[in-house]
Amino acid sequence: MGAIGDDGGWREANLARWDERVPIHAASPNYDLEAFKRGQDVIPPFEAAEVGDVAGMSVAHLQCHMGQDTLSWARRGAARVAGLDFSPAAIAQARALAEHLGYDAGRAEFVVADVYDAAAAMPEAAYDMVYVSCGAIDWLPDIRRWAEVAASLVRPGGFLYVSEFHPLHFSLDDATGSRVLHSYFRGGPLVREDPGSYADPAAVTVHNTSYQWVHTLGDVVSAVAAAGLRLEFLHEHDKSVFARFADMSRAADGYFRFPPEAPAVPLMYTLKAVKPGRP
Ligand SMILES: C[S@@+](CC[C@H](N)C(=O)[O-])C[C@H]1O[C@@H](n2cnc3c(N)ncnc32)[C@H](O)[C@@H]1O
Repeated sequence: MGAIGDDGGWREANLARWDERVPIHAASPNYDLEAFKRGQDVIPPFEAAEVGDVAGMSVAHLQCHMGQDTLSWARRGAARVAGLDFSPAAIAQARALAEHLGYDAGRAEFVVADVYDAAAAMPEAAYDMVYVSCGAIDWLPDIRRWAEVAASLVRPGGFLYVSEFHPLHFSLDDATGSRVLHSYFRGGPLVREDPGSYADPAAVTVHNTSYQWVHTLGDVVSAVAAAGLRLEFLHEHDKSVFARFADMSRAADGYFRFPPEAPAVPLMYTLKAVKPGRP
């Protein structure tokens, strides 16, 4: 990625927005850092089941935010984890959490970098798993380039695992999620002015402009394939880790769903793609 200012302003605007929201998130019950410090594991069980045993593995987490997911993989037995985010505020929180948990840099390392610069910025050249989770890729304009970077960080025989919100959710009405209001096929960016945050809608914020891109499922899968990875699965889920629509409520299993009588639409997807070859 070029320097700030030569990209139409998306990067600078998004960075200012994320940096401002980190302290809001760190103080929010949504992210509940105190519970995390006490031992909470934030990896959703369906992700853990799909990924399988990570004992002894090296894990790279792209767009790691405050590092809770990253560090949860370490808690689950990963030998080394590394998180990357372009927000210095987010990485400061992640490093503080790692230190609190007693992980040194050899066990858990966090770097400030744009995801497009990850190949040069990550501490190791290649990882057993490259992990990307919820609300990450829609901040990136070029999905092909993202896939190339992510794939370059997977060691032969290793895999990329993505758990994301389904791109259809950008098309649906905010209340019921059952009416299609916007085209699924959009170029970009979607430029929005949204004060507050999903973790604290009432928070007072000044950096409210965001630039996002809707990457269709076809574009994501095609980009991953073009980057040389072999798709092992693509699962679409009728549940979410986030109450994206007003009509959703938390079910007994902890996930958010629409009422049973509502039309079922895909809310999240998970993807696993393997790099051919042997370590
Ligand atoms: C929704 S959060 C990540 C989701 C994570 N699962 C969580 O909730 O903790 C998105 C993250 O992407 C980061 N980000 C956005 N654009 C980026 C870019 N171009 N390079 C690196 N990080 C970026 C933001 O700073 C933010 O921490």
